[in-house]
Amino acid sequence: MALAGKRILLIIGGGIAAYKALELIRDFRKRGASVRGILTKAGAEFVTPLSVASLTGDKCYTDLFSLTDEAEMGHIELSRDADLLVVAPATADLLAKMAHGLANDLASTALLATDKRVLVAPAMNVRMWTHAATQRNSASLKGDGIIFVGPDEGEMACGEFGPGRMAEPAAIADAAARLLGAEGPLSGRRILVTSGPTHEPIDPVRYIANRSSGKQGHAIAAAAASLGADVTLVSGPVAIPNPPGVKTIRVETARDMLQAVEKALPADCAIFCAAVADWRVANEGDQKFKKEAGGLPPLSLTENPDILATVSRMGDKRPELVVGFAAETEKVIAHAQAKLARKGCDWIVANDVSHEGGVMGGDMNTVHLVTKTGVEDWPKMGKDAVAEKLVARIAATLKGRWV
Ligand code: PMT
Repeated sequence: MALAGKRILLIIGGGIAAYKALELIRDFRKRGASVRGILTKAGAEFVTPLSVASLTGDKCYTDLFSLTDEAEMGHIELSRDADLLVVAPATADLLAKMAHGLANDLASTALLATDKRVLVAPAMNVRMWTHAATQRNSASLKGDGIIFVGPDEGEMACGEFGPGRMAEPAAIADAAARLLGAEGPLSGRRILVTSGPTHEPIDPVRYIANRSSGKQGHAIAAAAASLGADVTLVSGPVAIPNPPGVKTIRVETARDMLQAVEKALPADCAIFCAAVADWRVANEGDQKFKKEAGGLPPLSLTENPDILATVSRMGDKRPELVVGFAAETEKVIAHAQAKLARKGCDWIVANDVSHEGGVMGGDMNTVHLVTKTGVEDWPKMGKDAVAEKLVARIAATLKGRWV
């Protein structure tokens, strides 16, 4: 059974699709998972606690301030005790609460108290789903690492047509199984990803850096984990959260990053998305360089180790598939092809990082996949979509090499 031994905390929000949550409980249990249910006050208008309890074979939790529930299984314990939290149906109200960190009932408190992965299946009227506020909240949740399944498009209970229907229970259970690594095409595979900038100190208070936000690299790590891979992410200093379900190691300099990468090997595939500083200050000041000393600080630069080139030429410890990135501002393809040859990796994902494109720090990317046999131009997409497409390609390639 694909979900044998997995523990799922299912949060049922208040929408007509709540009746499908009962089917979802049956599906999870058929696949071997144990399920605990939290029913919101609005959810209880659509399905009863008794139905949820009968199908889960466990108590149905409804109240944040229940003395008996808190004594037996507090709200922190509820989320700590699960391998995955699933919100189905996820109403516009629940998504808004999650996006803003509100915790004023049992469901929202359990969602705020968790460090586990969270899968949401939105369900609402088409105009509520397409409303700018819901779209803003969803984008913000995706940025926090929350995973979405659906909504589907079709006829709705309110008689309207469009996106907003909750995904079918089987699709939600499939997504949960992928997240739990039970059935993913990368199950059993180790993937190493680098992300973000590096900071190279000038003196104790100043450093050299670049504009990388870590969004692209973190999205790749999350996408690989969602296909079941065992992912280690080595990240430079970024302001975004660690992706859930991914072992994340935070580093500062290129030399720290190389050390962490070497420690994280062996891996089946390594993806080098970090914007590593090519140079560091050779004569880093032990004390703050003083302006009053007159003239300019006597800075000289020295080259940093090239992590991608080092790993590509590692011999026995070299991952089967080594993927570099190329951040270019001109002659994108030609420079990427030269990097592929010079650094000895298998693929280069080339992107144009000139200022107008807004790729560094932004949410969108237009990439070209450069391999030894050709170049594929991918359309402009969100960084999440680039990550999913790249990781799907990696999964197919590794599978091909296995057989
Ligand atoms: O972080 P975001 O804001 O989402 O932006 C994403 C991104 C633009 C940073 C990303 O898509 C990207 O292009 N990453 C590579 C940035 C880079 O440093 O490119 P490069 O052309 O300078 O380096 C080529 C390759 O060598 C990269 O895989 C890089 O990780 C690697 N490298 C570079 C120098 C070095 N000393 N060691 C390395 O491993």
